[in-house]
Amino acid sequence: MNKKYRNTIIAGNWKMNVLPSEVRAFGEALKPHLIPQRRCEVVICPSFVALPAAARALRGMRIALGAQNVSEHEGGAYTGEVSCAQLSDLDVKFVIVGHSERRAHYGETDAAVKAKVRAVLDAGLRPIVCVGETLEQRDAGLTEDVVRLQLKTALTGVPGDKIRRVVVAYEPVWAIGTGKTASAEDAGAVCAQIRACIRGLYNARIARAISILYGGSVNGQNAAELFAVPDIDGGLIGGASLSAESFAAIIQAAAEK
Ligand code: PGA
Repeated sequence: MNKKYRNTIIAGNWKMNVLPSEVRAFGEALKPHLIPQRRCEVVICPSFVALPAAARALRGMRIALGAQNVSEHEGGAYTGEVSCAQLSDLDVKFVIVGHSERRAHYGETDAAVKAKVRAVLDAGLRPIVCVGETLEQRDAGLTEDVVRLQLKTALTGVPGDKIRRVVVAYEPVWAIGTGKTASAEDAGAVCAQIRACIRGLYNARIARAISILYGGSVNGQNAAELFAVPDIDGGLIGGASLSAESFAAIIQAAAEK
């Protein structure tokens, strides 16, 4: 599918890494490598506590800020939670929703993901909706069914005028943090199915405008091959986003594709 209708997005998911006091050095190390590219958005998702430091350190660098999670509630008595309004106030633009680590360790269900997607869109932010199968599900031939159900549930009730702000990240669970990347062919096939699913739920114009990312052990060596696949519009990067050099190599691969 023609990529000219959508942006490439390279999003770094720092997970529970990087201290607030370390963010400035990261920004300084990344700066010389960043060549502004048309239609390529770079996003960094630090932990909540590092967001203010990241907002300061990355100012003027054409890097958008993302969060790794958010509450589905607007505000109020929810101890330990963070709202969309609080994220917006820090100039956060993206929120990762439904990461498999949250699904696995914090019991985040498809219904919770759906509520968070709604909250993020209502607040004017952009959700990066994560979907992906486990190794058992892949071996049982269930990849397409699992991914379709996760996606359809997450997008339930999202109106046509808001869907264009959604980014989808296909992240096979068995590829995350394991060094095992899905082959470009396999990843591309699932991303194409995701686009077809969006086409079915909305229409062809919307489907071709949505950025679909691949995530799972992307690094400077395999990024170019993955990003060359027609339906892969960038990556959600964990481990390799922690060093400015390796993250820069991935951004470079996206710019050259
Ligand atoms: P990884 O993580 O690049 O370290 O595999 C990706 C992710 O969890 O988003």
